[in-house]
Amino acid sequence: MELLCIQSQEHPQLPQAELKAVIECENINADIEKITEGLVILKNISKDNLLHYYEILTKRLGYTHEIHEIITKSSTDNLEEDLLAIDWSKYIDETFAVRVKRFHSEIDTVETERLAGFLILSQCDNIKVNLTKPKSLVRIVAFHNEIYVAIERIKLNKRHFEDSKPHKRPFFYPGSMNPKLARCMVNLSRIKEGELLLDPFCGTGGILIEAGLIGCKVVGSDVYWKMKNGTAINLEHYGITDFRTFKLDVRELKMYEKVSSVVTDPPYGISTSTGDIEGNDIFKEFFYSIYDNMKDDAYLCMASPHYVNLKPIADEVGFEIVEQYGIKMHRSLTRIISVIRKKLK
Ligand SMILES: C[S@@+](CC[C@H](N)C(=O)[O-])C[C@H]1O[C@@H](n2cnc3c(N)ncnc32)[C@H](O)[C@@H]1O
Repeated sequence: MELLCIQSQEHPQLPQAELKAVIECENINADIEKITEGLVILKNISKDNLLHYYEILTKRLGYTHEIHEIITKSSTDNLEEDLLAIDWSKYIDETFAVRVKRFHSEIDTVETERLAGFLILSQCDNIKVNLTKPKSLVRIVAFHNEIYVAIERIKLNKRHFEDSKPHKRPFFYPGSMNPKLARCMVNLSRIKEGELLLDPFCGTGGILIEAGLIGCKVVGSDVYWKMKNGTAINLEHYGITDFRTFKLDVRELKMYEKVSSVVTDPPYGISTSTGDIEGNDIFKEFFYSIYDNMKDDAYLCMASPHYVNLKPIADEVGFEIVEQYGIKMHRSLTRIISVIRKKLK
C-alpha cells in the first residue's frame, strides 16, 4: 500500500525530515520517496496497522497537510481509461468531490475535476457529487505528466497551528517560534507519547505546548519567574496537565529523572544573576549541563544562529550532530536546527 503525502513548501527539507523522524520513532515500516518539494510517497506500508498509522501521523505531523491512499498511478494520456477501470464503489460513500492539485504540471484543474467527476458518476450507481461537504474526497495529484489518483482517508486538522500562534496565547512575550516549527522540532527529537521532554529555556512554553499536545510529559525551566509562570498558564490553556515548571538557571539543572528528549531554542546571550554570558560560551555551558540529564539514547533538538559552530562544542562535551537544517530569517541571520545525540561509548 502507498500513501500520498502533500506537505508544506515552507522549507525544502524540514517537512520530509519530520515525517522520517516520526516514522522512525513510531516504528512505522515504510520507505519514503520524495517526488518533489511538497509531495512525498510512503511506500510498502503495511495494511494491517493502517488506521493506527493514520492516527499517529495525523496527531503528530506539523508540516504534512494531507495524507491519502493511492488508488492508482496514471498519466495525462491514460487518465480517462484508468479512472474508468477503478471500482469506485469500494472508495466512495454516497457523496464525493474530486480535487486536483498540480506540481510542475500544466493540466487544467477545473476541467480535470469536472471530467473525473463525470467518469466516476458514470461508473457507479447511488452516488452524488457534493462539492461543499462530500463524504469521500478523491484527490488527483499531477506531477509533470504523471497522475496519482488517491482517496482521502483522514483529514489533518491544521487549525491548531493558526490558533496557537504566540500572540494568541494567554501569556505572550516576544521571541517564541511559530508552533509548526516547534512541533517539527519536537518530532525531530524522536520523542514518543508518555515520554519525558525538557525545554530548559522554556520562555512562554511554545515548544512544550506542542510536545504536550502529542501526549508527552513535559518539563520547562527558565531563569525568570515571569517565564516559568507564563509557561504554566499557557500549558493549562491548551489543556496540558502532565507538566512541571521550574525557575532555574540552565547551568544549575539537575533533573529528578533523566529525560527522553530535550527540545529548545536557547537565547543568543543568556542572563545570569551575575550578568549576561554571550557567544559560544552559553552553548558550551548548556551542553555540559544537559548531558547528564539525558538518557543515553535521548536526542536534543535545538535552534542556534548560523555564526555559532556547534560541532567543536558538541565534540568536546561528547555529543554528535546527526542532522542540521538552515532556515533563513533575514539577510544576515540563518537559524540552524540541529538534531544531536550522545556519542556512542
Ligand atoms: C528564545 S527564548 C525561548 C522561547 C521559547 N521557546 C518560547 O516559546 O517562548 C529563550 C529563553 O531563555 C531564557 N534564559 C536566558 N538565560 C537563561 C539561563 N541562564 N537559564 C535558563 N533560561 C534562560 C530567557 O528568559 C528566555 O525565556
